[in-house]
Amino acid sequence: MASITEVSLSEKIKELKKKQEGVIVAHNYQIGEIQDLADYVGDSLGMAKYAATVQSKVILVCGVHFMAESAAIMNPKKTVLVPDLEAGCSLSECITVEQLQAWKKEHPGAVVVTYINTSAAVKAESDICCTSSNALKIVESIPQDKEILFVPDMYLGQWVRTQSKRKIHLWNGSCHTHVRIRPEPIEQLKKEHTSAEFLMHPECGCLTACMSMADRILSTDGIIKRAKESTAKEFIIATETGILHRLKKENPDKIFYPAAPEATCEFMKKNTLENVLWSLEDIQYEVTVPEDIAIKARQALERMMAIS
Ligand code: 13P
Repeated sequence: MASITEVSLSEKIKELKKKQEGVIVAHNYQIGEIQDLADYVGDSLGMAKYAATVQSKVILVCGVHFMAESAAIMNPKKTVLVPDLEAGCSLSECITVEQLQAWKKEHPGAVVVTYINTSAAVKAESDICCTSSNALKIVESIPQDKEILFVPDMYLGQWVRTQSKRKIHLWNGSCHTHVRIRPEPIEQLKKEHTSAEFLMHPECGCLTACMSMADRILSTDGIIKRAKESTAKEFIIATETGILHRLKKENPDKIFYPAAPEATCEFMKKNTLENVLWSLEDIQYEVTVPEDIAIKARQALERMMAIS
């Protein structure tokens, strides 16, 4: 049950949201209290699509930095805020724009498919973006004779390469939270809960070892949708633990076992009710993307949106 402080903070945030003509867009990994307050909760693709349609003056993005950049790119006339500037993404730090430029020189003519978990500058150097929910579809849309450079998540890239059987070069990047998810505890959970469905995010470090064990490999929204639709009563969930809030809330009659209870992203958890309140009160911290970068990054994002 929420404490009195949480209730009053939530009420103040709702008032401020109205006063500042703002909306809150939250990722599935945010703390439950923020998810419950948000106007939209979803995966990276859903957040970017929603942000593009927002009419209100202010978009407060509760997630990590690249998600706010995507909102600023897709809806440049709005004031895009984040509650904490330190909420970065380890995966997006895995590749710089200079590294991508150098890699492209080694593979002239290759198509660059860039995961949305990257900086705006890296997106601007890319041909098309993808998210965990559409990566396979995006790769399949590229002509067969083209080589593909996939950045920066090697596990998602590896999964897409296996599924599509395409010539894909992988960047050696990974998410520091998803690499903590190991196969042994999953094997144990599967032994203990034989009828549980095993749903896994493609960023998981144990992807190769667990691919054949997984019932489905899905984005965070995909996991939520599947859990609702499935007739199974128990699920093993391999991704960041923030997703359990929505899973439990939307399926009170089902049981969810985290594959790794320690898989918590400290950057996602930088956002709290307190700094959400301060953010709306002081209209801070604004995230902007320089126009020359935004124009090119928008093209890569819009090409993705057209296919998703
Ligand atoms: P989703 O797009 O599946 O929500 O994944 C985003 C992410 O950052 C996973 O670490």
